Amino acid sequence: MLVLPVVVLGYGAVARAYIGQIISHRAEYRSRFGVDLTVAGVRTHRAQTEITEDTIPPRSEWSAPTALDELIARVEARVVVQAVPSDDAGAAEAVADGVCALRSGAHLVTATKTTLLHGWRALDAASRETGRAVKLSGTTGAMLPAADVARSLSNGIHVTSVSGCVNGTATFVLDRLSDGDSLGDAVEAARRAGIAEGDPAADLSGRDVATKIQILTGLLWSRDPGAAETILEPITPAIRSAAVRAKGRGQRLRQVAVADLDIPDLVTVSIRAVTRESPLGALNGPEKAVIFDCGEFGPVTVTGGQSSPTGAAMAMIKDTLSLALEVAPGLR
Ligand SMILES: NC(=O)c1ccc[n+]([C@@H]2O[C@H](COP(=O)([O-])OP(=O)(O)OC[C@H]3O[C@@H](n4cnc5c(N)ncnc54)[C@H](OP(=O)(O)O)[C@@H]3O)[C@@H](O)[C@H]2O)c1
Repeated sequence: MLVLPVVVLGYGAVARAYIGQIISHRAEYRSRFGVDLTVAGVRTHRAQTEITEDTIPPRSEWSAPTALDELIARVEARVVVQAVPSDDAGAAEAVADGVCALRSGAHLVTATKTTLLHGWRALDAASRETGRAVKLSGTTGAMLPAADVARSLSNGIHVTSVSGCVNGTATFVLDRLSDGDSLGDAVEAARRAGIAEGDPAADLSGRDVATKIQILTGLLWSRDPGAAETILEPITPAIRSAAVRAKGRGQRLRQVAVADLDIPDLVTVSIRAVTRESPLGALNGPEKAVIFDCGEFGPVTVTGGQSSPTGAAMAMIKDTLSLALEVAPGLR
């Protein structure tokens, strides 16, 4: 039996879904995979707790956080799972925590996009030095296995471009605009449906979708995602009339991010009209799609996998269990 004690960084929606899944499925993972997955500690920037008997104490009983390497050593963690906010303000600390996890002998599983955007090279170097893995499939579209497909294709398949519609809020809002909603009403509807997170600025500006495609270029072409320039076309109130007209023509507007092999270090995000039958036009609500153009072999499209905290948590469960089955250093 492989014992994998985990320290979880963050205790928001994604972290709680991840912890709940481990606690409720521990026996199944033991019998199906021969892996005893346990949450040994949880740490936010304000407090931490060690865990025994699969029981999380109330937050009022947590203690002040210690240095991360001390916590990892004390609970003998083999994996650090990171589900802290993807914001630029916290990026340096998130990268430092990731590097610390690897240097402390743990594998890193992250759902935090900015850790990768700001720390790709540092994490890659630390991973290769320590022989520990970085797993990141929760960063490129929750349950959508886009990172898995990118990693697989990077083994010898000539991918000439990658494009994607990987922000559920943007897709949902564009469809509501085409129904005649104002931008404010469309965003509010996305919030009510549980699709939009608190501040939708990064969804509407194209920043979020650009970041996900930047991360995929790291897997596909060994690029540093943070080195890419981005050109972003935002979703604004003025888009509504174009969305309504597109609907009248049997088309849908989609927020599409593109990166090309022969245009290094550039990711563009634009609002495009696509037919309703096309892979991007057929998306509904928070569904997502990524298209890998494989030259003479044509496109490979991965689609579906609605966005939710539970979806992101399940991607991290998959990443964590895969550490028991195939460990290779590098960002994967
Ligand atoms: N929600 C989704 O559907 C989804 C899908 C894919 C990926 N993601 C990504 O998953 C990550 C987590 O998302 P979420 O929705 O769970 O976020 P969230 O609900 O905002 O929770 C963030 C948690 O991180 C803690 N935190 C903040 N800074 C920290 C630090 N420096 N060290 C340790 N903990 C820290 C917060 O602590 P306090 O509780 O003390 O404030 C909070 O518990 C984000 O990067 C997000 O982009 C989310």
